[in-house]
Amino acid sequence: MTNPKEFSAFLASRRTTRDFLPTPIDASVIEELITDGLTAPSWSNTRPFMVAVASGEVRERISADMMRRAVVLTGFRVGSLADKIKFLLTPKAWPISDFSMLKPYPVELQPRARKVGKELYGLIGVPRGDKQAREAQWMKNYQFFGAPVELFVFVHKDLGVFAANDAGLFSENLMLSAHARGLGTCAQGAAALWADAIHREFKVPKGYKLLYGIAVGYASDALINTFGADRLPASEITMQQA
Ligand SMILES: Cc1cc2nc3c(=O)[nH]c(=O)nc-3n(C[C@H](O)[C@H](O)[C@H](O)COP(=O)(O)O)c2cc1C
Repeated sequence: MTNPKEFSAFLASRRTTRDFLPTPIDASVIEELITDGLTAPSWSNTRPFMVAVASGEVRERISADMMRRAVVLTGFRVGSLADKIKFLLTPKAWPISDFSMLKPYPVELQPRARKVGKELYGLIGVPRGDKQAREAQWMKNYQFFGAPVELFVFVHKDLGVFAANDAGLFSENLMLSAHARGLGTCAQGAAALWADAIHREFKVPKGYKLLYGIAVGYASDALINTFGADRLPASEITMQQA
């Protein structure tokens, strides 16, 4: 039996890492993390997800490819007219994720997203209106924040939301297992913009769609890693009786 207080404290002490040391991670450790991930519950025990483990040269190639595209995409967002035209003429840079990420958040959830953005950028000294600096931070997603390993989590499209749910349960177990080993992680929706970059390097089975990436590595002592995103009280997500 695990001491519940210690367990709660362990859960609470996991924080997203956004700056990693280059220290390599042994393939056997990644296998242990995946094995722990697979102890999570799953719809009819189907495990409707797969992982592409990118390290070494594969990781470098994917990161370089994504960075090239991210630079062009950033040009469209905050650059000159010439940058916008370049983006329009560069279809490879168009954000064509397997699952749409471009919808605005539901109105009632927007304050939470705004709060975490404001607080994170505030901590690292990026002024509110400084779009270039914000983009520069966003682009670090495509260097996987320096992590030596990036996991790309794919889900079977035919199980719909249940596949994404199971991938989430798997991923949280995996991230907690990493945390228990002193490793940091960052789930990265941003890493799912260009699935073809992964298809070029891995044999992705038919029907599997890219959901997100997870950066894994040892956390540096950079200021950004001290960030503690707001955690809601249970009452805020607990429904009132009718
Ligand atoms: C599915 C998913 C995708 C995420 N995508 C990104 C991302 O692209 N870049 C990033 O810096 N953080 C990303 N995050 C991290 C969240 O911002 C973070 O989990 C949240 O702010 C709560 O902070 P905590 O993990 O430290 O508790 C993602 C988290 C999840 C679960």
